[in-house]
Amino acid sequence: MTDLAEPLAVDLFDPDAFVDGPPHDYLAHLRATQPVFRQALAEGDDAWVVLRHADLVHVAREPNLFSASLGGVVIEDLDPEALAMMRHMLLAMDPPPHADYRAPLSPHFGARVIGGLEERVRSICRRIMAEAGEQGDVEFVHDVCGALPSQVVGEIMGLPEQDWGRIQRWAERQTSGQDPELAAVGEDDDENAMVAMAMYFIEFGARRRAEPMREDLTSLILATEFGRDDRPAEPMSDIDFGSFCVQLVTAGNDTTKTMLSSGLQALLQHPDQLAALRADPALIPGAVEEILRWANPLHYFRRTASADTELSGVPIAEGDKVAMYYTSANRDEAVFADAQAFDVRRNPNPHLSFGIGEHFCLGAHLARLEGRVFFEELLAAFPTIEQTGDAVRVRSNLNNALKRLPVRLTPA
Ligand code: HEM
Repeated sequence: MTDLAEPLAVDLFDPDAFVDGPPHDYLAHLRATQPVFRQALAEGDDAWVVLRHADLVHVAREPNLFSASLGGVVIEDLDPEALAMMRHMLLAMDPPPHADYRAPLSPHFGARVIGGLEERVRSICRRIMAEAGEQGDVEFVHDVCGALPSQVVGEIMGLPEQDWGRIQRWAERQTSGQDPELAAVGEDDDENAMVAMAMYFIEFGARRRAEPMREDLTSLILATEFGRDDRPAEPMSDIDFGSFCVQLVTAGNDTTKTMLSSGLQALLQHPDQLAALRADPALIPGAVEEILRWANPLHYFRRTASADTELSGVPIAEGDKVAMYYTSANRDEAVFADAQAFDVRRNPNPHLSFGIGEHFCLGAHLARLEGRVFFEELLAAFPTIEQTGDAVRVRSNLNNALKRLPVRLTPA
């Protein structure tokens, strides 16, 4: 007999399935009934979708058994050239090369170093708010949120200011492939945004290497020695530097933009919580965590089983695709009380939006700083914020993102 209350099944990797928002009812149903769920894929094979918090943590903490490198981190099969390119990135490296590459970089992204950037991030936010205030009616995603991550990366890396806009455009092209409307924007600019961006950074690195050291991340990274693939420790080559910068920009741009825009949408949908933040800005850091949990910018990242294993009693075969589904684990009833509710006072909040384990987001401190300062400055600048039209979501199975959020910002 069919249970009438059973939510409609959706294909969890069909980009069209998310256009009206993630299927949270269906995900809750799967968590209760098939928490390690086999999803047939359009390509003809299938993938295991890991829906519960504890199972996701297990997968993330076993990087040798669940490899990021074998098949990359997205569910679609990549052509060999694209996979080889992805494997040069931290995100798709396995230990031990992953640790060799990451360890020297980590201190530059630690809490203390990133904390020291607060005033620079604040002055960028103030400038963005001042420009937005002059417009009044804005498309919040692109005009306001989109500017922050590329300007912050530009500032901390010492990139020439006239290039910041170009970097924002490349980054946006990079992550919009499944949405025909976004993919068409700037199609004529650069055939391949990733290659164009890498060339820019390779040239920038070479130029900076010849100049005296400055107080920015570029100088620090160029002076850092890396031991990779059993080679003795040595500084990054210009090509490695270019590839690393592309990683920073692509990993940090869309995700941060989404945290900010989905964050404002969540607050506008919950006026009582917005009022609480206005009354007590000390709630903002916790609100940023709740925004990350409730509106996680990425739906999933993939691993590939490197040997036969099992997950909560479900056999997984060598070579199987395994998706760590953050959109579900962040609402796991076993971990979060009233998991579907948006609550800026939620504490503790062990969401998985930055991943966990070996590949835990290198930019998490920076993203949190940007989130906190952005909302502090936004709420201080605009006592009234109203939505003036429908929000529109990106067509994507990976990016849980808005592409349009029309709002009116009214200054004091
Ligand atoms: C709200 C914003 C962000 C979110 C939600 C986010 C999310 C994530 C997630 C889920 C991972 C783990 C991937 C995995 O386990 O396979 C990751 C890794 C990474 N992120 Fe972020 N990220 C954000 C911002 C940033 C920023 C601002 C930067 C850099 C400036 C950055 C750089 C990276 C890098 C380099 C990695 C790879 C780390 C590794 O594999 O060791 N991210 N991020």
